Amino acid sequence: MKNNNIIIGSDHAGFNLKEKIKKFLIENNYTVTDAGTYSTEAVDYPVIAKKVAEKITSKEYEKGILICGTGIGMSIAANKVKGIRAVVCSDTTSAKFSRQHNDANILCFGERIVGEYLAKDICKIWLETDFEAERHLRRVNLIES
Ligand code: RB5
Repeated sequence: MKNNNIIIGSDHAGFNLKEKIKKFLIENNYTVTDAGTYSTEAVDYPVIAKKVAEKITSKEYEKGILICGTGIGMSIAANKVKGIRAVVCSDTTSAKFSRQHNDANILCFGERIVGEYLAKDICKIWLETDFEAERHLRRVNLIES
């Protein structure tokens, strides 16, 4: 059975999309913890990225979602935390393979890049796709080492 506890975060540029994704996930039976930000007032995305990333490396959550203007800043920042494999996905194919081959544990995307409905599809496929392990496990372990 899949772990349905998700942690989500955004900066001001991703706030509106975060609110829509949060609602979508709750409607789809996920339990969602919102790590902020809580308004469109400007904040620094690395602060939110670190907060979410550390909740994953501490194993409080298996998976997280980070949204900023492009998804790029969030992914760069989150990947500084050892054990995080954050990916920027603006399409569903990348989202699927980032789980199957890379065991991505944080999904990032940008409110200025993807529309609401594509973002929902990206989240759905990313959350529902399992890591294939096998040969990919060796490669992921190489990243970690
Ligand atoms: C904020 O203006 C913007 O730089 C940020 O949301 C993000 O896109 C950075 O990568």
